[in-house]
Amino acid sequence: MDRRNQSTVSEFVLLGLTNSWEIQLLLSVFSFLFYLASMMGNLVIVFTVTLDAHLHFPMYFLLANLSVIDVLFCSIIAPKMICDIFKKRKSISFCGCFTQIFFSHAVGGTEMVLLIAMAFDRYVAICKPLHYLTVMSPRMCLYFVVTSWVIGFIHSLIQVVFVVNLPFCGPNVLDSFYCDLPRLLRLACTNTQELEFMVTVNSGLISVGSFIVLVISYIFILFTVWKHSSGGSSKAISTLSAHITVVVLFFGPLMFFYTWPSPTSNLDKYLAIFDAFITPFLNPVIYTFRNKEMKAAMRRLCSHVVHYWKIS
Ligand SMILES: *[C@@H]1O[C@H](CO)[C@@H](O)[C@H](O)[C@H]1NC(C)=O
Repeated sequence: MDRRNQSTVSEFVLLGLTNSWEIQLLLSVFSFLFYLASMMGNLVIVFTVTLDAHLHFPMYFLLANLSVIDVLFCSIIAPKMICDIFKKRKSISFCGCFTQIFFSHAVGGTEMVLLIAMAFDRYVAICKPLHYLTVMSPRMCLYFVVTSWVIGFIHSLIQVVFVVNLPFCGPNVLDSFYCDLPRLLRLACTNTQELEFMVTVNSGLISVGSFIVLVISYIFILFTVWKHSSGGSSKAISTLSAHITVVVLFFGPLMFFYTWPSPTSNLDKYLAIFDAFITPFLNPVIYTFRNKEMKAAMRRLCSHVVHYWKIS
């Protein structure tokens, strides 16, 4: 950030979601509840998987990692947005703005790659069940997790490095409730057309690319299940449909956001709310309400906790 002294902008002003006081109140209550619920739901998953030896399988490790990502993801934007709702003038510092952009892209990119790892895990479990434990070894699992983080961070770094060095010489009002890259680019006092293109390609590629890979893998897996359909397949289908639901909910808004020509309507703001609050909340709901082992593990965990309280 050595070029920062050339820019005169030291903070950005966020316009928030809407001017209407009633809608803001409604949104703040709604966001706060969803934020709390996502944090709790995901933390419960992380604790359950870590503490219960019955769940020490690749699928649950990946699931717990997804929950860690969701906890981080909803903590990047939500707390500041909730605190800001009642402020007349919402602002964010130059550094704060870029930190938000950097981490939301890094964690978002990581989540996409991790979803692919989870699809691969299901592919091996369903299509090559005899080799499952050898292919998805703990080392392989760790390799997937580390790779996701590395790809996520590289994806984010490439964009932020270019944008942070742009001259921001005056205009500093962002019509959004958080720092988003497409809107920020338009505040730079230089022609950013190429950079806008780069951001669209970079973010578009990782989101559309991951989405296509995921859709193809799940079609392939569903086809395999359907071909060998027997007694055991209904469980497989229920797990698969949970995964597919998460994929569609996560990518739907994102792809719209980054591939839509220009953010002129307000629709993309509301879609961003969806990704920031609702998807991290839905992950635990979708995975746990449909998974017997997970529910059993939570009951065990609960009874341990109650037991511990009673004796102490
Ligand atoms: C994330 O995945 C790695 C590799 O499988 C695993 O060792 C780790 O425990 C997981 N993290 C959580 C929070 O479960």
